[in-house]
Amino acid sequence: MSKRSVSLWIVGIVILIILSAGFAFYRASISALDEPGQFETALATKGKHIIVGHQAAKMHVTELPYSDASADTGAIVFSVECTACHGKDGRSPTHIGQSMYPRVPDLGSPEVQKWSNIELFWIVQHGIRLSGMPGFEKFNTEEQSWHLVHFIRTLPNHPKQ
Ligand code: HEC
Repeated sequence: MSKRSVSLWIVGIVILIILSAGFAFYRASISALDEPGQFETALATKGKHIIVGHQAAKMHVTELPYSDASADTGAIVFSVECTACHGKDGRSPTHIGQSMYPRVPDLGSPEVQKWSNIELFWIVQHGIRLSGMPGFEKFNTEEQSWHLVHFIRTLPNHPKQ
C-alpha cells in the first residue's frame, strides 16, 4: 500500500471515530426522566447488592431485636425523615420520589424486603451514593435506625394508601 493510501485510511478512520463519538454524545441523555433500560437496572441492582452486602458484613453492630414498640417508634422517625420521597406509607413514592433517578422504590415490595436486617440498617445509616437516598448516620442514633428497619419490615402487611 502506498504512503498516500495509508494516510487516506488513517484520515477516514479518524473521521469515523469523530462521527461515532458525536452521534453517541447526541443520543446520550442525563435526564432524570428517562426510564432506565432493563440492562442498566439489572447491572445497577447487582452492583448495589454486592457492595451493600460486602459493607454490611464488615459492620460490628448489635442488632436490636424486633418488637412492635420498636416498629411503632420507627414509624414516627419515618414520618419525619423519609416521607418526602418514600411517601407517608413508605409504599407510594411522592412526585419527588417518582422523578428521581434511580426511582424511589416501594419499601414493602419483595425486592426491598429481600435485604437482610443488617443490610437495611447499613442502607439507612449510609445511604446509596449516586442515588437520592441519603445516609442518616450523622443524625440518627443506631437505635433509631433499627426502629426504622423494624418499621420497614411491617410494610408488606400494610396496603398502599
Ligand atoms: C431525598 C429522597 C429520599 C429520602 C428523604 C429517603 N430516601 Fe430512601 N431511597 C431514595 C432513593 C432515590 C432510593 C433508591 C436508591 C437506589 O435504587 O439505588 C432509596 C432507597 C431506599 C432503600 C433501599 C431500597 C433498595 O432496595 O434499594 C431503603 C431501605 C430506604 N431508601 C429507606 C429510607 C429511609 C428509612 C429513609 C428515612 C430515614 C429514607 N429512605 C429517606 C430516596 C430517599
